[in-house]
Amino acid sequence: MKDIFFCPEESHFYSNCLENFVLRDCQNLESIVEFGSGDGSPVIHSLLRNKFEGLIQGYELNTSAWKAANSTIDEYHLNHKYVIHNYSLFDADRPEATYLVANPPYLPAPDNDIYMPLLFGGIDGAAITNELLSLDYENVLVLVSSYSNPLSTIQKAADYGYSVNKFVVLPLQFGYYSSEPKVKKHIEELKKQKMAFYSGDYYFLAGVLFTKSQKAAINLSNELAQVMTSL
Ligand SMILES: C[S@@+](CC[C@H](N)C(=O)[O-])C[C@H]1O[C@@H](n2cnc3c(N)ncnc32)[C@H](O)[C@@H]1O
Repeated sequence: MKDIFFCPEESHFYSNCLENFVLRDCQNLESIVEFGSGDGSPVIHSLLRNKFEGLIQGYELNTSAWKAANSTIDEYHLNHKYVIHNYSLFDADRPEATYLVANPPYLPAPDNDIYMPLLFGGIDGAAITNELLSLDYENVLVLVSSYSNPLSTIQKAADYGYSVNKFVVLPLQFGYYSSEPKVKKHIEELKKQKMAFYSGDYYFLAGVLFTKSQKAAINLSNELAQVMTSL
């Protein structure tokens, strides 16, 4: 299990965001694409607590995580609702879907030689998140960290025509992966360049629903930017 992403607090938060921002508003037969399913537990928990009759297609590069996810999916007989592919969404024939959802890799570091290379989010931590916003899905739910150049993500989203429809913020303590000395040191450097925001041991993790609809009545991007840079 050592090589599978493990951070229950973060995974629960992601699962709650999925329920509150996506599954509850979903028409029954909608389809959802997930980047980086991990051990599948966030989606599985949400499916067990909600009535959703559509299909969630996940993509997970880590084979151990993919196997663990499939065994839990079998255990709960969710095979018709949650299918995970053992390759990257970026290499796939991307399926059509109303929502793209992810707790993406967002660790900033000089390179991917870190405890878990698949958690590397590029030099500023925002590279994968920003790439996900370029895929042109109508709605994107992603977790955004305040130490991963959040302003670049908010700007990219606007460039791609997204509004910030909803968001919720969780203060989190630096954990096992972000406390790795090489990563922490890099985050300290990013702070000086106003690309990372944290205070003491705490940073903010936001669950953000970006939406492309021209009709989106609200755009909370300024509010999100304010909160994420307030530490
Ligand atoms: C922060 S973890 C989130 C895992 C799970 N969704 C959760 O919240 O517990 C990010 C996951 O993305 C996976 N990942 C990284 N790059 C990927 C890629 N290009 N394609 C698919 N999965 C990827 C990692 O292996 C990791 O399991």
